[in-house]
Amino acid sequence: MGPTILAIESSCDETSASVISNGKVLNNIIASQNVHHKYGGVVPELASRAHQRKIIDVVDEAMTSAGVKPTNLDAVAFTRGPGLMGALLVGGSFAKGLAWAAGLPLIDVDHMQAHILAHFIDDPVPSFPFLCLTVSGGHTQLVVVRDYLDMEIIGETQDDAAGEAFDKAAKIMGLPYPGGPLIDRYAREGNPDRFRFPDTDMPGLDFSFSGIKTAFLYFIRDHVAADPAFVERNLPDICASLQAKLIRMLLDRLEQASRQTGIREIALAGGVSANSGLREALRERAAKQGWNIFVPELAYCTDNAAMIAMAAHFKFLNGQFAPADIAPVPNLHFATHHE
Ligand code: KG4
Ligand code: ZN
Repeated sequence: MGPTILAIESSCDETSASVISNGKVLNNIIASQNVHHKYGGVVPELASRAHQRKIIDVVDEAMTSAGVKPTNLDAVAFTRGPGLMGALLVGGSFAKGLAWAAGLPLIDVDHMQAHILAHFIDDPVPSFPFLCLTVSGGHTQLVVVRDYLDMEIIGETQDDAAGEAFDKAAKIMGLPYPGGPLIDRYAREGNPDRFRFPDTDMPGLDFSFSGIKTAFLYFIRDHVAADPAFVERNLPDICASLQAKLIRMLLDRLEQASRQTGIREIALAGGVSANSGLREALRERAAKQGWNIFVPELAYCTDNAAMIAMAAHFKFLNGQFAPADIAPVPNLHFATHHE
């Protein structure tokens, strides 16, 4: 019988808890924070206060619905980073307190590694080595995954993350945070070939989204100067065109990485992998390239504790526990970047 572990995620704006037993995720309780919408982004201090308000109920619900008590647990896991310091501190301190009180070992989990390990929650699972494109609100990475806990970043964004590009473009158009899901929704009704945006790619396997963001800002500004109702009148076409451009930038790099590494086992992870256009475009590209693709269930794309629990399971089996005085690391890096 494998271990039973309580996992807590609090790196950004979701307070989440999950119980995993013998490698099977029993639940995934998520309380989303609605306090950030009107600010156009996550406000760190509001995030940590919301985590504090919610964490007891979220953990209690996970433990109760799994039918476990602290005495049934073998370990308590938490997200160490990357994330917002104040937000990480809430989940980390709670996990440490519980582990200390119940005499349980602690397991620290890297949030980005956990996004990738979410692929092992349900079948079908990718086989090693696979290539993972992780696209979230804070990161955009191409990762060669050799084993559960053996990963190498071969490309990453040098400025904005893919999710940030979606969210900032949405903000420029006056849409609330997080804008990614809204752009996705409007894009479904729009024409992706209506507007063209310039190529602002980096050489090699790295990404850059700041150029496209600036180009988009000027595009909207110039059109609105000529027609104040430009955005309202053309929202689906603008969203479809921008989304298609961002997807091409992501998949072109992924294709290049697949060619360079010879790996055709391809996975998608992180919040932006919930994007319906990206999922569809990946399927089309996979058919052309002969890729075997893995796209997580929607509940495991955006932030959740089930993925932290899955990662903790593998760390437990590997004997990788955290010291009692472990501290959060807002810019934690799970793997070394290629030179
Ligand atoms: O992984 P995640 O939940 O949190 C981080 O670790 O950052 O990713 C959040 C990001 C946000 O930028 C959000 O706009 C984006 O994922 N996102 C989407 C969609 N759903 C979430 N972007 C595009 N289309 C979506 N459907
Ligand atoms: Zn995330």
